[in-house]
Amino acid sequence: MDGMTKKLLDGLRKKREGAMLGGGQKRIDAQHARGKLTARERINLLLDEGSFQEIGMMATHNLTTFGLDKQRFVGDAVVTGFGKINGRRVAIYAQDFTVLGGSFSEVQSQKITRVMDKALEAGIPCIGLGDSGGARIQEGVRSLAAYGEVFVRNVESSGVIPQISVILGPCAGGAVYSPALTDFIIMAGQSYMFLTGPEVIKSVTGEQVSVDDLGGAGVHMGTSGVAHLSAESEEDGLNLVKKLLSYLPQNNNEEPPRVVPEDSIGRMEESLNSIVPDGPNSPYDIRDVIDAVFDRDSFMEIQPAYAQNAVVGFARMDGYAVGIIANQPCYMAGALDINSSDKIARHIRICDAFNLPIVTFVDCPGFLPGTGQEYGGVIRHGAKVLYAYCEATVPMVSVITRKSYGGAHLAMNSRQMRADVAFSWPTGQIAVMGAEGAVNILFRDEIKKAEDPKKRKEEILAAYHEEFLNPYRAADIGQIDEVIEPKETRPRLAMALEILRTKVVQNPPRKHGLMPV
Ligand code: HXC
Repeated sequence: MDGMTKKLLDGLRKKREGAMLGGGQKRIDAQHARGKLTARERINLLLDEGSFQEIGMMATHNLTTFGLDKQRFVGDAVVTGFGKINGRRVAIYAQDFTVLGGSFSEVQSQKITRVMDKALEAGIPCIGLGDSGGARIQEGVRSLAAYGEVFVRNVESSGVIPQISVILGPCAGGAVYSPALTDFIIMAGQSYMFLTGPEVIKSVTGEQVSVDDLGGAGVHMGTSGVAHLSAESEEDGLNLVKKLLSYLPQNNNEEPPRVVPEDSIGRMEESLNSIVPDGPNSPYDIRDVIDAVFDRDSFMEIQPAYAQNAVVGFARMDGYAVGIIANQPCYMAGALDINSSDKIARHIRICDAFNLPIVTFVDCPGFLPGTGQEYGGVIRHGAKVLYAYCEATVPMVSVITRKSYGGAHLAMNSRQMRADVAFSWPTGQIAVMGAEGAVNILFRDEIKKAEDPKKRKEEILAAYHEEFLNPYRAADIGQIDEVIEPKETRPRLAMALEILRTKVVQNPPRKHGLMPV
């Protein structure tokens, strides 16, 4: 090797070493002292060993405003490239807080959009690891424009490739909108998200709130519904990405991967025959039904702490990934409301976009009544559930376990809402409304005038039960395809899903529908 080549190689190695250090050893130590990992450590944890192929390592800004000429870091504030997770290809970027607080710059945007473009062209998931103080203030409008370049790609990729955002540090201002445009937000470690921080809030409204109470994982998992999954540690958060991807295809033209099942599809589950309590208002946990029906330990719940009157997630049946939608009778009696409608509608659309059949479990007394709900637009929000089911073209199977009253019967994937197969357990009750409400409306006068009003009411209630609070009137008219024993649910669902695996349905061509958002 002649002297010149050696010099060039040494130069490259030095540049690479510099890039590996991001904002420098001191900043890395500070990041560790806060209990946070660096961007590269995170990438190494997430990707299969040795699979990371970096691009854009040398990119650096050429700006001079507000001291930027003295703050040039090779690679700028993000690490970008491609790699594999469990042998499947992904595009990835990780913001580097050690460089100017991970602030979002023009160069950062160029690096991120480059991997986003390639991810879309190659049809592979794109994963973003966020840890950033938002728009780089010194870059002014360049930084704002740079965000726009990312947002437009998030939207282009939406429903084509899975997009997952993991928040592992601050995520403020405009930085929140790229994650919000992706399919899943996972918050882990010391993460928080807000549009305007505590200082701005205090100066504008006088309200005082801590960073955590404003935008911590607890808030976004339980109250706002902005986040979909959370974990205490960064490592656990990154493991959630791996698990989530195992249910998703690489893109909308592929099927999700099959896991070789260890569970027979013929398995009968005796416990289900007694899971619905005798008392019509007694609760049970629908997650026990889901756990019993699908492949052992395959259920992954999404948004578990938000709108808990609905349960959504992914599971496997005979090794094939499916999406789950369910009412939760042990929370608000499983009634539908504004937040659960949003949660359900979003999940239906994610499943439909990524070719996951949808299984719906119904035990719902109807939409939650009250001014709070009506003023909040429950009509508009509930309509999203109807819309999402009606536009979905993936296989859909519903199982009524108990109540299926009124609007809830229609909304929760009834035959007209495009269920391919509708099952009911014998405990199913399919009516316009519950017995008490119906009898009070129809027979108030008759009961009042009766010699023994209590006895008369009981007689009418019994007749109503006999007529409506069973699945057979619905089965008579084909609204229910089959009344099944609860213990048979797994084999019946497995067989229905197998038949439907090659289902092809197309909606009429149009630019896009007008979902009631
Ligand atoms: C440039 C930034 C920066 C930013 C942080 N830094 N945020 N540099 N632009 N947006 C720098 C700091 O100056 C500091 O550099 C280093 O990063 C670490 O920051 P610290 O403040 O020391 O860290 P910490 O105490 O952990 O606080 C982190 C933070 C805070 C909460 C994120 O830095 C912060 O509040 N930053 C500003 C957040 C913000 O308002 N961003 C703009 C949002 S508006 P030195 O060298 O001094 O150590 C926005 C509009 C976009 O994003 C709209 C698009 C639609």
